[in-house]
Amino acid sequence: MIPSLPDTLPGQRVASLNGRFPRTLGCYTTAFVQEFDLKLAFVGGTGPEGLGLAMRFARAGHEVAIGSRSAERGEEGAARVREVVAGAVTRGGDNASVVADADVVLLTFPYSGQQATLEALGPALEGKVVCNVVAPLEFQQGVGAVALNVPGNSALQEAIAQLPNSRVVSAFQNMSAEELQHVDHPIEADVLVCGRDAEAKQIVIGLANQIEGVRGIDAGGPSQSRYVEMLTSLLINLNRKHKTQSSVRIAGL
Ligand SMILES: NC(=O)c1ccc[n+]([C@@H]2O[C@H](COP(=O)([O-])OP(=O)(O)OC[C@H]3O[C@@H](n4cnc5c(N)ncnc54)[C@H](OP(=O)(O)O)[C@@H]3O)[C@@H](O)[C@H]2O)c1
Repeated sequence: MIPSLPDTLPGQRVASLNGRFPRTLGCYTTAFVQEFDLKLAFVGGTGPEGLGLAMRFARAGHEVAIGSRSAERGEEGAARVREVVAGAVTRGGDNASVVADADVVLLTFPYSGQQATLEALGPALEGKVVCNVVAPLEFQQGVGAVALNVPGNSALQEAIAQLPNSRVVSAFQNMSAEELQHVDHPIEADVLVCGRDAEAKQIVIGLANQIEGVRGIDAGGPSQSRYVEMLTSLLINLNRKHKTQSSVRIAGL
């Protein structure tokens, strides 16, 4: 069993973003994300969620790399992004090759693959900002989507435990892949970002803010991610019941 971790770090790490952007403490803000084109890599990027996010971020001017367990499927995914987003700077390949030079790595595969995938990629993810999009759930006949109780409390906390030298946060678990792929449409949604690395959260909030209509929100420490991850099942069931694409919007903030 992977133990839960406390929400705070004992000290603040000082490192440049993948060695590409020299930094002083606190420089990675929403404005930074808007000013610089980042290299984003998607592990398991060939599914609808990874492709949808990649399309949105390619549209915002970032370089996106689509990863897969098969280099060929990764390349097909990248071609799909180019089809939808004119001028997209993108490439595809196997998961290990796309994360190698990424500034930010997004994990967009099913929960069932998380432990083995992170075990394989762990050393390549060291020092990087890693954004976990994984929502642990399963589909049950007659019930619909059911959120899973995972041993480490949340997919994020399990990822943090497995990647102690990466800057792991979670976000985008409540964003509909279908909505993301309609790249010309704004999405009315809040993206709740959890984690204990304040700067990594700011970078991911900055990315969320670049999707038209979306607001990125710091939703607290790693233990909060469980609630965000579980909401995905509710949204899927609401979508089925009301034949729509629902999203999360927090009032009062
Ligand atoms: N779809 C949505 O609307 C949505 C919304 C919110 C959150 N999410 C969450 O986002 C994540 C991705 O969603 P998705 O619908 O795009 O998922 P998906 O289509 O089921 O999987 C995405 C990709 O992950 C890779 N993959 C599949 N099984 C794997 C395994 N055991 N180990 C490693 N890689 C594996 C596959 O790529 P290759 O075969 O090419 O390697 C697949 O194309 C999930 O955790 C989901 O809960 C999805």
